[in-house]
Amino acid sequence: MVPCLDAVTVVHNAFRRDLSEIDQAVYEVARHGGDLSPLVVRLQYFGDILDRHEKGEEHAVFPELDRVAPLLAPLFVDDHREMAEGLGEVVGAADELDAARATSVLHTHVRTHLAKEDTYLYPVLRDRIDLGEQATIVGQLWGRSFPPDEVLPQYMNWLFGLVNQDDQATITTVWKQLMTEEIFGVCTPLIRDAVTTSDWSELSRRIPGLT
Ligand SMILES: [Fe+2]
Repeated sequence: MVPCLDAVTVVHNAFRRDLSEIDQAVYEVARHGGDLSPLVVRLQYFGDILDRHEKGEEHAVFPELDRVAPLLAPLFVDDHREMAEGLGEVVGAADELDAARATSVLHTHVRTHLAKEDTYLYPVLRDRIDLGEQATIVGQLWGRSFPPDEVLPQYMNWLFGLVNQDDQATITTVWKQLMTEEIFGVCTPLIRDAVTTSDWSELSRRIPGLT
């Protein structure tokens, strides 16, 4: 059985990779010229996924953190608020230079925040909460953060396009553990469409019963 909290790290990896690419691309536009608007659209999508994820953490994860390690959660909530403000500054930037500066600040902030969560927050939960309760927390987190059906294909393309085969296998395995057969059956073809042929072969090899 894969610990369900591992799925959270996978999503964090996708955030890191996406924002790193966006930051680099915005810098290139500021430096050499080009059209910023597709990058703003991409960043808005990133912001939408990040917002869902943060609300899920605040609903499902931070109350449990308060229970087993009081006083830490407010620090992470402050980060969430500041990252939302940072996203607003990029989207509302007056020109390419301002956008590049704001994106770089946001990138640093998000990276630092995710590192703190991966280094302190989630290890504390792994240490102090049993695997069954961890699964409940992650189930509630996904319940809050999973996109609605009509935009699920876009989400699968986003997530599976940004992470490596190990992460793809981890998150698919956790979903298989947590989801009903019916919901997992909805996700499976979307995952297959989102990954390359060789990624799908590898996923099928690693996860018995994946069809
Ligand atoms: Fe967070």
